[in-house]
Amino acid sequence: MTLQLRVYVPDHPLVKHWLAVARDRDTPSVLFKSAMVELGRWLTYEASRYWLPAQETTVQTPLAEAPATVIDPTAPMALVPVLRAGLSLLEGAQTLLPLAATYHLGLVRNEETLEVSCYLNKLPPQFAPQTRILILEPMLATGASILMTLNELTQRGADPALIRIISVVASPVALQKLSEQYPQLNIYTAMIDEGLNDRGYIVPGLGDAGDRAFGTLTSE
Ligand code: URA
Repeated sequence: MTLQLRVYVPDHPLVKHWLAVARDRDTPSVLFKSAMVELGRWLTYEASRYWLPAQETTVQTPLAEAPATVIDPTAPMALVPVLRAGLSLLEGAQTLLPLAATYHLGLVRNEETLEVSCYLNKLPPQFAPQTRILILEPMLATGASILMTLNELTQRGADPALIRIISVVASPVALQKLSEQYPQLNIYTAMIDEGLNDRGYIVPGLGDAGDRAFGTLTSE
């Protein structure tokens, strides 16, 4: 696989631990949800490195002046959770980026055709120049949802070079499509898995992330 975009798989025991919890089919929904919160937190931590708009300044300690680095609170920043499953990463991301605006995008895929349609779009008509956008999409499977999301964002003025994606599991096919259409992207994922089954699920993956996070799994 030759990719132009950059994919980071953090080599961090907390990321690996919570991925293992999320993958385990015996993990109950309430713990699955906690695992996704933690993955949202640590993947956001990794994604925000060299991306947050830091400024050099000085602060006065009780003893002397000290050089300091602070986040520019005026720099526009947005979180875009891709519903439903992306909501499970939101809490962890918001703890690190509390000043970011959150714009919800609801996408659903037809389980037969695997085509994606949008049922909720709370994106602004236009993003301010230089807006840093973090997309929360746990499963990069066929690539259809994330490509639709990126198209919606770039139509509204978002700069792909300032967009970062956090996902829990990514498939090579999704990464390939993203790389062809958005080579400037940076993606942070806990794991790249082998591929997809004939129903478009990532293998070994973790199953249906939305159903597991919201307790709506039905036995087949
Ligand atoms: N969506 C999921 O929730 N899981 C997959 O494996 C693929 C898409």
